[in-house]
Amino acid sequence: MDLTTNYLGMQLKNPLVPSASPLSRSLEMARIMESAGASALIMYSLFEEAVTAEEEAMVRFLHHQETGFGEADGFLPDHMDFPGELDRYLEQVAALKATLEIPLIASLNGVTTGGWIDHAREIQDAGADALELNVYYIAADIDQPGSQVEQRYLELLKQLKQHISIPINMKLSSAFSSVSNMVKQLEEAGAQGVSLFNRFYQPDIDIHNLRLTPCLHPSTSSEVLLCPCAGSRCSTDAPNCHWAPPVGCTRWMT
Ligand SMILES: Cc1cc2nc3c(=O)[nH]c(=O)nc-3n(C[C@H](O)[C@H](O)[C@H](O)COP(=O)(O)O)c2cc1C
Repeated sequence: MDLTTNYLGMQLKNPLVPSASPLSRSLEMARIMESAGASALIMYSLFEEAVTAEEEAMVRFLHHQETGFGEADGFLPDHMDFPGELDRYLEQVAALKATLEIPLIASLNGVTTGGWIDHAREIQDAGADALELNVYYIAADIDQPGSQVEQRYLELLKQLKQHISIPINMKLSSAFSSVSNMVKQLEEAGAQGVSLFNRFYQPDIDIHNLRLTPCLHPSTSSEVLLCPCAGSRCSTDAPNCHWAPPVGCTRWMT
């Protein structure tokens, strides 16, 4: 059976592409996925926030210790001398490219426009075949309409298209009121593909121990219905619906 497909302008031997996850941190695991039939691999995301946080911590550690010996400070290495989050990510892009024969799709989550552009360029230069934008904007301003949020995504995409030439895939959350229209707008703005949908960490707050409880529910097959279900009541009494929401979860019961 011919399962070849075109994805992001790339000819793939089948449509099975493992999505972004820590599995791509290991070359051995990437090799196993390739030999099991993966036709391309999406890497875990590079988070601009993590790059910045590490750089700031390094600056504090090396340059703001206030030891009282200003002259001695000059002998300390520069914080840029140490490989950081970004270097490690770019090295992993290069190592995976050298290891695998299937296309490699890197993944980026930026914060600032400059960060998105700089890191996207560096990822392209490191050899990635395509870039997925793990883009997620938390719309917390009650005065901000949805159209403005959509515009942010479109503007970001248009900016990046001017700076990199590899295909761009937009990874979306399900939180758009008109998903298909959003996808159409992204296509017109130059996206070569979209991934539906991202799954976000939804940590809980343990009020008894005053700490965050990490929480990530693996998907179930019934979530394939997410698109048609969105915005309507998804009753667990419905025939063929085997999905039971986690205790206390009212996410799809609107
Ligand atoms: C442990 C774990 C780590 C993940 N890391 C990333 C990541 O770095 N970047 C990203 O865009 N998505 C990440 N995801 C989301 C997955 O790529 C995928 O989009 C999501 O799990 C939805 O697919 P599912 O419905 O089959 O679970 C991660 C998911 C899991 C479970």
